Amino acid sequence: MQQLLQGVNVFLIGMMGTGKTTVGQKLAQRLNYRFFDSDVLIERVTQQRISDIFATQGEETFRELESQVLSELASCTKSVIATGGGIILKPINWSYLHHGLIVWLDAPVPILTKRLKKDKTRPLLQQTDLSLKLQSLLEERRYLYAQCDLQIIIDEYQTPDDIVEQILELVP
Ligand code: S3P
Repeated sequence: MQQLLQGVNVFLIGMMGTGKTTVGQKLAQRLNYRFFDSDVLIERVTQQRISDIFATQGEETFRELESQVLSELASCTKSVIATGGGIILKPINWSYLHHGLIVWLDAPVPILTKRLKKDKTRPLLQQTDLSLKLQSLLEERRYLYAQCDLQIIIDEYQTPDDIVEQILELVP
């Protein structure tokens, strides 16, 4: 598998709650790759939580930071990178993502709603109708996620290990 990928990075994209971090860590282990999470790196660089960046500096500043972090990650090799759900929004980010294999974890809204219903950390989801918000975000973004190299459709019975196996089977 490692030979097939030949050190090429794997970028996991997809909505909040699709399991990019958990799946990414496991995939990195299987491939003997390093693992990075763009949100964690942003928090490390700024010494602030994502929710505080959104609250004090706004979403646009967060998106700029996200692009900067991604541009640096793009120059790595042998890495699995879990990206924030909105990474696909800035056109410039696609030039960085195309440095690797782009894998979309695509889970339906009911699964995301179930997983995120107690979440307090994601600034875009702090409103009353979680399911509606996720639905509208997914509708806005679906055509962007669809520009991936590999789409993995997730159902409620798959474990993170199952998803890793599915990715490995489908790597071109
Ligand atoms: C966001 C997703 C979050 C984080 C931020 C914005 C989004 O990351 O980057 O809250 O716009 O979808 P996860 O997808 O890792 O939750």
